[in-house]
Amino acid sequence: MKLNVANVDLEYDEKEKKLYSDGTEVPFSTRLVGDMKDVLFNPEFVTAKNRDAVIYRMFRGAGVEKNKTVFDAHNIRYDVTVLEDYDLGGEYTKTLGHYHPIAENGLAYPEIYEVIYGKAVYLLQKKHEDGGYEVILVEAKKGDKVIFPPNYGHISINVGNGILIEANLVNSTFESNYQSIKDMHGGAVYLLRKDNMVVNKNYKDVSVSHQEAQKAAFLDASKGLYDEYISQPKHFVFLNKPEFLLWEHDRWDIDSQHF
Ligand SMILES: [Fe+2]
Repeated sequence: MKLNVANVDLEYDEKEKKLYSDGTEVPFSTRLVGDMKDVLFNPEFVTAKNRDAVIYRMFRGAGVEKNKTVFDAHNIRYDVTVLEDYDLGGEYTKTLGHYHPIAENGLAYPEIYEVIYGKAVYLLQKKHEDGGYEVILVEAKKGDKVIFPPNYGHISINVGNGILIEANLVNSTFESNYQSIKDMHGGAVYLLRKDNMVVNKNYKDVSVSHQEAQKAAFLDASKGLYDEYISQPKHFVFLNKPEFLLWEHDRWDIDSQHF
């Protein structure tokens, strides 16, 4: 399956479960059922029999070599992740979940995701000063882009029938924090395949809202993330300068920004 990127030929082979960039295989890392034990609604689901099953593959820096100078100029990475449609003990297939470190002024690095194939729910969560948690569940379908705002932990959930292929752009210099979500035994809510959502009892005062993916006014909706980054890297200045997300975008003097 071609990944709808013009600036590099990215193709996912569903049979081999491999990604090719201009015909060359892209290296990947995996998460297995066993890696998810700490974050599942039903951790007893993990057994010696299923613990080595791959539930998602992370192709970090996919196709970046081709346009290395543009990506390196701003320390930005393009990643592709493919989530299987695996029943995780009643839950949809999901990623482990993590938080990003602070970039500046108390604001963590944001991230932007794009659904390339399938259907996702992005779980965004943030702890407020009173100890309660805000959860936003963003529904996204093919072609949708979703910005993960600063300081929100995030989990990708494959809620479609079949695989989910998603891409993201993110600052390439930091390490994510996975431990906080592991310590809480997953995100603030679990999405179960039987159409119900269960609040994780380790979190207090959880408020949940549902959203559909919204179009960001400063992005070109006609282009995928890779192609737009190559043609207009300054549209992604917010990935390194999170405070720009808090301003009104039409007041950005994007050209004067050091990015
Ligand atoms: Fe992230």
